[in-house]
Amino acid sequence: MTNKKGLKFYDNLDLSKTQNEDDLMNVYQKWAADYDDDNDNLLGTVSQPMSVQILQEYVKNKELKIIDVGCGTGLVGRELERAGFVNFDGIDISKEMIDIAKRRGYSNLFIGSLNNKLPFTDGEYDAALCVGVFTHGHIGSDRLDELVRIVKPGGIICFTINEGVYASYGFNSKIKRLESEHVWKVIELRKNDYMVKKNVKGFYCIVEVQ
Ligand SMILES: C[S@@+](CC[C@H](N)C(=O)[O-])C[C@H]1O[C@@H](n2cnc3c(N)ncnc32)[C@H](O)[C@@H]1O
Repeated sequence: MTNKKGLKFYDNLDLSKTQNEDDLMNVYQKWAADYDDDNDNLLGTVSQPMSVQILQEYVKNKELKIIDVGCGTGLVGRELERAGFVNFDGIDISKEMIDIAKRRGYSNLFIGSLNNKLPFTDGEYDAALCVGVFTHGHIGSDRLDELVRIVKPGGIICFTINEGVYASYGFNSKIKRLESEHVWKVIELRKNDYMVKKNVKGFYCIVEVQ
């Protein structure tokens, strides 16, 4: 969808200006319809297939129960389905994004926020993915604790961090601290392509919950 000047919604979007969850919900309500197309054609986002590819190296059993936090329109779910995973749920703050995700193989989709306690019991999932959510104006590194809570000991968490917020939002120190406190073991932390058409890299982090 373009405006009168032929600009797409994303062209005027500055995520660093979002102040709170209401702002973000407003952004994604407007962006939902164009999100998938913009990911491919404007941003060249590769984080969803790359994350699932990395996850597969550590999660071999395709029946394990996986949660996709900040699932958006379900581009991660689409990759999970292609990879043969059969038991995955998604959660997101945006109803409009979730409405699109309904066609992407999720067993259950929930509306909820990672800024709050998620509606899952401790250790409910074997693995969690959180892709594209730790980025400008979204969620702070302190909320990694909530991902840990919902994954069982021995389970895997795979998350991405936009390089632009890696140090400024404290991800570098938080990742190390959780390892030194024996909350998780870092299996891999690599910087790689993320939004190739914008020349933005991201960190891909895989941890095992202790
Ligand atoms: C850049 S999109 C990534 C979506 C999807 N994971 C992907 O890779 O295509 C960020 C998503 O995070 C969601 N989000 C933002 N804040 C959130 C929060 N506090 N809790 C859960 N989801 C959130 C947004 O609604 C949006 O769908």
